[in-house]
Amino acid sequence: MKIMVVGGGGREHAIIKKLNENKEITEIFALPGNGGIAADATCVPVKATDIEGIVNFAKENTIDYAVVAPDDPLVLGAVDALTEIGVPCFGPNKNAAIIEGSKVFSKNLMKKYGIPTAEYEVFTDAAEALKYLETAPIPTVIKADGLALGKGVIIAMTRDEAKDAVHSMMEDKVFGESGSNIVIEEFLTGPEVSVLSFTDGKTVVPMISSMDHKRAKDNDEGLNTGGMGTVAPNPYYTSEVAEKCMKEIFLPTMEAMNAEGRTFKGCLYFGLMLTPNGPKVIEYNCRFGDPETQVVLPLLESDLLTVMKATTDGTLSDTEVKFADKNACCVIMASDGYPQKYESGFEIKIADEVKDNVYVAGAKIEDGILKTAGGRVLGVTAVEDTLEKAIDSSYAKVQKVSFDNAYYRKDIGKKAKEAK
Ligand code: AMP
Ligand code: GLY
Repeated sequence: MKIMVVGGGGREHAIIKKLNENKEITEIFALPGNGGIAADATCVPVKATDIEGIVNFAKENTIDYAVVAPDDPLVLGAVDALTEIGVPCFGPNKNAAIIEGSKVFSKNLMKKYGIPTAEYEVFTDAAEALKYLETAPIPTVIKADGLALGKGVIIAMTRDEAKDAVHSMMEDKVFGESGSNIVIEEFLTGPEVSVLSFTDGKTVVPMISSMDHKRAKDNDEGLNTGGMGTVAPNPYYTSEVAEKCMKEIFLPTMEAMNAEGRTFKGCLYFGLMLTPNGPKVIEYNCRFGDPETQVVLPLLESDLLTVMKATTDGTLSDTEVKFADKNACCVIMASDGYPQKYESGFEIKIADEVKDNVYVAGAKIEDGILKTAGGRVLGVTAVEDTLEKAIDSSYAKVQKVSFDNAYYRKDIGKKAKEAK
């Protein structure tokens, strides 16, 4: 069986490593993959956003099943295009991927169907937004409507910061057309939880919960990044909270998408905040999270391909999705300077004993040598019986990986430990 995975980051590496456990799979192609993924899949130089290239590759290589992992090809309609030529896919159609592709869409969906989220206003005009900000409660949160590489959210602690955010998004277009429309929303507080789920439009099966660490520096200081580390499960996500989320958020979201004629199949990611007034949705993603996937999939005991196919076929309710009763911690090793300026091109050395624990995000092979080629370079994951052991073990494994200019947070999992 030949599988194609679209994407080329740590998340895709985790998906590929898990798929490789299935003995029926004869070959996995990664489009484009990266230098580290090349150890576990055949990398093909087709960009994840090149929908025509992806379709042509699938056709020419008689691909049996495709996994479209990143947000942009999903929003561009990669699943629709592949389905049209008869290649079954994991991932939502374009009309469902809009749940991540447009914040205005997702906020309006939640309002219409009574799904708990921050209060908000939508603006298409900078002058109106600035006028609103004269009296809006501060702090406030400004969000670009469209995809912005996870950077389109500004938490403004003062009125001036909020106005600056409107100027830069709507007038200076720092996020391009993504910022033509904006959402200004209520600032919420409470622990954050990521819950990835499998859904076929009839059933929602939440995966084990996790906690991301988005800021670049220890103690949640520094700039927002794509994620500097994760732990799973998230101790704040108790069974009572889980039950409430299923009833008030997960099922209503699936049903709302069905009612809108936008049935969602694939991985629906719920970014939640456990506020004093109950769990609320901070964001939806139409895909696996990164680096949440690097702690969630290592804990999955069921066969990933079987579960993925069940979301495509609509048979999820008959499929077992089982997670180990263990803990995982992933520490991201980045190039110093990320998420701003950084140098790359340095040799990466990974000791053999930790190769299975490493998910490579930004690397290339040059003259047969694996070298850094990105801000987030790789993630190191450990699975242990307790959270404490998982944290210690992942940091011990980090010592077995080296490259010049490596930077990583020293406190991944600290907040989770304090919660217990
Ligand atoms: P997002 O890209 O939507 O996940 O937002 C990035 C981060 O901004 C989130 O992980 C939260 O920490 C924070 N954030 C987003 N929306 C809000 C909000 N309404 N209130 C407080 N923090 C928020
Ligand atoms: N880790 C957050 C995301 O994937 O969007």
